Amino acid sequence: MPLQDAILRLSPLAKWLLPRPVLRFLLLHVVGVNRQYERLRAVPSRLCLEREILPWVAARFSRILFVGTASYTYHYEKLFRRGQYTTIDLHPSTAVWGVHDHIVAPIQDINRHRPKGFFDCVVLNGVFGFGVDRADDMRVVLKELHDALQPDGFLVVGWNTEQHDDPEAIGLYEPFFVRNQQAPWTERRRFASETHVYDFYRKRPD
Ligand SMILES: C[S@@+](CC[C@H](N)C(=O)[O-])C[C@H]1O[C@@H](n2cnc3c(N)ncnc32)[C@H](O)[C@@H]1O
Repeated sequence: MPLQDAILRLSPLAKWLLPRPVLRFLLLHVVGVNRQYERLRAVPSRLCLEREILPWVAARFSRILFVGTASYTYHYEKLFRRGQYTTIDLHPSTAVWGVHDHIVAPIQDINRHRPKGFFDCVVLNGVFGFGVDRADDMRVVLKELHDALQPDGFLVVGWNTEQHDDPEAIGLYEPFFVRNQQAPWTERRRFASETHVYDFYRKRPD
């Protein structure tokens, strides 16, 4: 069996026992898991996230939650101080791409894993439309994120306009969040020839 297949077929226990840097190295450099994401990693919306949004939040916020981890997001942790950045994903298989205290749970359960008001920023990119797809489920996520954030907490939502209704247009943010008024993130960020957009909100006062 080729080494690539052997690594992918390792039992969850074996993967859990391997030190994270070793497993990451094998997946990245032996299996080559990121080859399939080369185009995704170069699109303007992804570059905006990596080069503009995340550095901006890293410079301003102390406790940032990043929702949804993948082989093409593991390096985002380098933008943050230790303890500044927390990751969460419901699939155990993606934990290898999270930080050392990564949370394996649905984002709907975040307030069981950290005290309410723990975070001052949440980045929710590629989760609406990629697991949280129905308006009712999005509403639950927004309520939990509202509770997870400090007063005036900052929320970034990245989503694809062709995948579902605009959550803002159907009023899902209304009880929980208001549009951010602080430059430079006062408007929806759009990209020519892409349907991915970013929206920026502040926690609505209780
Ligand atoms: C398209 S990927 C997006 C990854 C990353 N956030 C990004 O910026 O590209 C979607 C990820 O969100 C995770 N996800 C989907 N629904 C979730 C939920 N309810 N709670 C936590 N993670 C979820 C999936 O397991 C998957 O890893």
